[in-house]
Amino acid sequence: MAPPEALLLIDIDGKGRSCVLSGPNWLFWEEDVNQQKLLYLETFGCQMNVSDSEKITALMQGIGYGVTGEPKHADLILLNTCSIRAKAEQRVYGHLGRYKSLKAAKPGLLIGVGGCVAQQEGERLLAKLPFVNLVFGTHNLHLLQGMVLAAQKGKRCLETDFVDDEKRFDLFPGTATEGGVTRFVTVMQGCDNFCAYCIVPYVRGREISRSADKVLAEVERLSAAGVAEVTLLGQNVNSYGGRKPGEPDFADLLRQVAGVEGIKRLRFTTSHPKDISPELIECFATIPKLAPHIHLPAQSGSDRVLTLMNRGYTRGDYLAKVAALKAACPEIQVTGDMIVGFPGEDEEAFAQTLALMEEVGYADLFSFIYSARPGTKAADYADDTSRALKQERLERLQSAQKKTTLAKNRALEKSVQRVLVEGLGTSGDCLFGRTGGNRGTILNGDLSLSGRIVDVKIVEGLQTMLRGEICHV
Ligand code: 5AD
Ligand code: SF4
Repeated sequence: MAPPEALLLIDIDGKGRSCVLSGPNWLFWEEDVNQQKLLYLETFGCQMNVSDSEKITALMQGIGYGVTGEPKHADLILLNTCSIRAKAEQRVYGHLGRYKSLKAAKPGLLIGVGGCVAQQEGERLLAKLPFVNLVFGTHNLHLLQGMVLAAQKGKRCLETDFVDDEKRFDLFPGTATEGGVTRFVTVMQGCDNFCAYCIVPYVRGREISRSADKVLAEVERLSAAGVAEVTLLGQNVNSYGGRKPGEPDFADLLRQVAGVEGIKRLRFTTSHPKDISPELIECFATIPKLAPHIHLPAQSGSDRVLTLMNRGYTRGDYLAKVAALKAACPEIQVTGDMIVGFPGEDEEAFAQTLALMEEVGYADLFSFIYSARPGTKAADYADDTSRALKQERLERLQSAQKKTTLAKNRALEKSVQRVLVEGLGTSGDCLFGRTGGNRGTILNGDLSLSGRIVDVKIVEGLQTMLRGEICHV
């Protein structure tokens, strides 16, 4: 019997995939006709990784990949990983296990690992995980296109060298999606502080600042694309400029960025308490666009533990800076990070942490059980607190913070807040925006308000957000 004619089915899954039905036995196979390869990118960890992932997306689009939200549709799966705590690292391995099964069913699938776990593990990752095609470190995004093209030809690639040069910031194309309401702009990367518990200086390298001209050019480009708010991003933005005489410091940079027309609101993260200068504090009093919010991790309220952590400030120094910030900007909201169960933390030290929290009155606090990280100074400290006790302290701390957060949210009821509308909320039927103090707020209104700062009367302060009504557009 003559074979039936081949039948071409175009775009069978709505994602541009086509297939050919053919004889003699009606064989069915996927064909590359009209097919755009698809990237599934998974991002773990901090805002720096979120920002790097935007660049990764742009780079992959540059070599022809579209983006999918479904790993099973992907031709390339990239993981942008985090190793700040052991749990974050274990999650990466868990996800990789799932992608290994996908690859068994689809041998052409490429899998790549980038970010902090990739930087830390490097060659060991390739050796341990034979199904991984490429490993790229935190300084190697500029090599990623070439690596993926080589992987398509069957090569396994590894790039984890540090590039300690400002050039690194200029190696990227514009970020993936121009526009949007709020965007990150990287102003510095890396960290020289070597807090005893922290892996960041090892996986992100030495501090390096991006020149003010380049930062301003990016902010101007974003503003022209309609962006209303920028968040200046770095592991330790307060040491921007390397404190070199004659070079702009972070306060100077903030003033310059605030001068960009079209930008309505300005934020920055993250800050190290020891580097908060009087000039920076002054910015909260003098730059109207600067949102009244600072993320200022204390990590502990005990001087003894702060010394063991190598933080470079005392409890008194920290509280004095918070007081100065509140004096300069009475409505400022302070958020922070806290570690419990650091080696040497006893009940008294923990009580000092709780007391510091009370005194500061954090709007929100991110809290973590200490996790020993390979190669850090604290990994050699005797870890003398039981897991159960660490867990109990974390729960005490978190329940105290929950009460403070709710009380602060309730205290905003009936007040009028300036809310930048970011778009639709997750439920899809309300708008979502943020107050200057960075409280998420849901409100009714038209989507056309996206990107506008509106006056909102807060009708309800909930545990994790506010509910408000627009009173003036
Ligand atoms: N264990 C627990 N928490 C950590 N952090 C950083 N390193 C560790 C660690 N080894 C926390 C700090 C930091 C936040 C980003 O993560 O609180 O500010
Ligand atoms: Fe880690 Fe300390 Fe640097 Fe922050 S300042 S990234 S906690 S070493």
